[in-house]
Formats: sequence, C-alpha cells, structure tokens
Amino acid sequence: MAISMLYGAQNLKLIGGIAPATGLGSDGTKFHFGGFSKKGLVSYGGSYKTRTLAPICSVSSSRPASQPRFIQHKQEAFWFYRFLSIVYDHVINPGHWTEDMRDDALEPADLYDRNMVVVDVGGGTGFTTLGIVKHVDAKNVTILDQSPHQLAKAKEKEPLKECKIVEGDAEDLPFPTDYADRYVSAGSIEYWPDPQRGIKEAYRVLKIGGKACLIGPVYPTFWLSRFFADVWMLFPKEEEYIEWFKNAGFKDVKLKRIGPKWYRGVRRHGLIMGCSVTGVKPLSGDSPLQLGPKVEDVRKPVNPLVFLFRLILGAMAGAYYVLVPIYMWIKDQIVPKGRPI
Ligand SMILES: C[S@@+](CC[C@H](N)C(=O)[O-])C[C@H]1O[C@@H](n2cnc3c(N)ncnc32)[C@H](O)[C@@H]1O
Repeated sequence: MAISMLYGAQNLKLIGGIAPATGLGSDGTKFHFGGFSKKGLVSYGGSYKTRTLAPICSVSSSRPASQPRFIQHKQEAFWFYRFLSIVYDHVINPGHWTEDMRDDALEPADLYDRNMVVVDVGGGTGFTTLGIVKHVDAKNVTILDQSPHQLAKAKEKEPLKECKIVEGDAEDLPFPTDYADRYVSAGSIEYWPDPQRGIKEAYRVLKIGGKACLIGPVYPTFWLSRFFADVWMLFPKEEEYIEWFKNAGFKDVKLKRIGPKWYRGVRRHGLIMGCSVTGVKPLSGDSPLQLGPKVEDVRKPVNPLVFLFRLILGAMAGAYYVLVPIYMWIKDQIVPKGRPI
C-alpha cells in the first residue's frame, strides 16, 4: 500500500512489464566516433544501416519498484516546471539540447513547406519551436504544454509571437483528427505517465501522409546513471519508441541518434535528448490502437506529503543529469581528440 502511494496508484494498473531489452549497443563507444549517424540511420557495431528495430518490449511502461520515476506524473511534472521554467533555457538546454542538436533532430521531420500546419507538443519555452519556425510560418505553428509557466517564456520570444499557444495535455490533445501536417514533440515524453497514449494522439491529430517527429531520452547503461534515471523519469529504450510508433499505426518508422558533440557519441549515461523518432500516418482517421482509460487521473486528490516527497526525490535525481554533461565536457577537453572518452 505504502509502495503504491509512493509510486502513484496507477503503477498497479499497467499493461504488462518491460521485457529485458538489449539496449542495442547503447554505450556506443565503438561506433559513434566523429559524430552521429546521418538521416534515418541507426548504427550497429561499426557500420551504418537503415533498419527498423524489432519491437521486444511491452505496450506501456510500467514503473516497477526499481524504477519509481518520481516525476513521470503530470502533477509532479507541473510543479517541477513551475520552478525549472525560471532557469530552463539557461541550465537545461546548454547541457543537453543545443541548437545544432535541435536542427539535426528536426531534419527527419521534413519541414519543407512554410505553409505546413505544425503542432509542437510539450513545447515548453519554445526552444524547439524556434527551430521549427526557421522552416514553417509561425502563424501555422501551435505550441502546446501543460505548464503555463513554461508557455509564458515561449510567449516572450519574438520569433514565436505569431504562434498559437495552448495549455493542454499531450495524452489528450485539443486538436481535431486529421488536423496537422507535422507533429513535433521534444523532451516531453519522459513526463508522460502513458507514452503509448501520447503517441496514439500524435497519430490521430496528423493528416494522412503527415509525419510525427518525437525527440526524447534514451536509457543509460552505466549503473549510477541508470539509478538516477530510474528515480527521476522515463528514459525509454530505443526499441520501445519503435514499438510505440508501430502500435499506434505509424509506417516508415525510423530512429536517428542524436547527442551533444562533446559526448563524442557516448551513450552509457543515457541522454535527455538522445534520439529523434519519425513515422508517417498512412490512413486518415484515428489510430487503430485501442486503449483503456488514462492511467493517471490528475483530478484525484493526492497526499501532499507523499507528493512533496516524490517531487523532491525526483528533482534531486534530475540534478545528477545537470552534472553529467559538465563531466562529459571536461573529459572532452582533457582526452585527446580521436580517443574514446
Ligand atoms: C524538457 S521540456 C521540453 C520543452 C521544449 N520542447 C524544448 O525543446 O525545450 C518538457 C516539457 O514537457 C511539458 N510536459 C510534461 N508533461 C506534459 C503533458 N502531459 N502534456 C503537455 N506537456 C507536458 C513540460 O511542462 C515541459 O515544458
């Protein structure tokens, strides 16, 4: 009972557990030298291949006791960003989500027409939207986020003045079916209690032939990083993304690895922005995937002490990931170029 309160009652209702996953060579030390793979390529064992990864995990992510993911809840995420939004652009982006990474990650989204209708889900302070409006007219872009504090920062940005700004939930989008040409979401899935539901929504709101581009974290393999990742939020494995996209009905699903330059391709600590996954909607209408009711009911009363405990522990675990990029940057400065770090 105490465990269920601590991890959220929804933990007990989820659909199956995560099958042991390979991680697909995600420490990446051998084959990531000299940068990341080109468009739509996933690299294995030294050679680059275009390949769709085999789905080997469950439909939704559960939170077993070893992976409490204290901030993978809507209310905790809301309060986390209540404070983080004050420093977000200055503290998080420089370490994890640089402009060149953003442009690299958006490239598979194929933003080739200024008239495209684009939704940026979990758009926050608009950092990714700034990359989108380089290619698409701002008046055609909607930024959606559940945090008014994050959105307030986006509103201040001159190039985003004409964007529509909407408060809402990624798992229940306030857009009609077959509405957008492109669905973009960067660095938000890790807070969604039910990522499969969010991806099903991405499918629904796209027009036939529209493309979803979801940028998100990847799971660490190094034990300490794994520990803090599991305490903080959801770091999906690469094959989980692929499975979620395929389950939702997407075709032509591809995953592109991304990461800060100074990591030299290292993935063992996981990455907050580690991959860009794309898929095309082949038919109009809703996703063929049927899901039950939402796993998290935000209107349900919570015990404030338990809530605070989860928020503090989750935020502390998140602080580890402020240090990792600094550590990697120092290593990059010290270790001679061309050598593994
Ligand atoms: C790491 S920030 C990313 C912001 C932005 N996309 C960027 O690239 O900088 C994650 C954002 O997801 C939002 N978020 C988390 N859960 C959400 C949900 N269920 N629905 C909508 N937004 C959500 C947070 O409020 C936060 O602004």
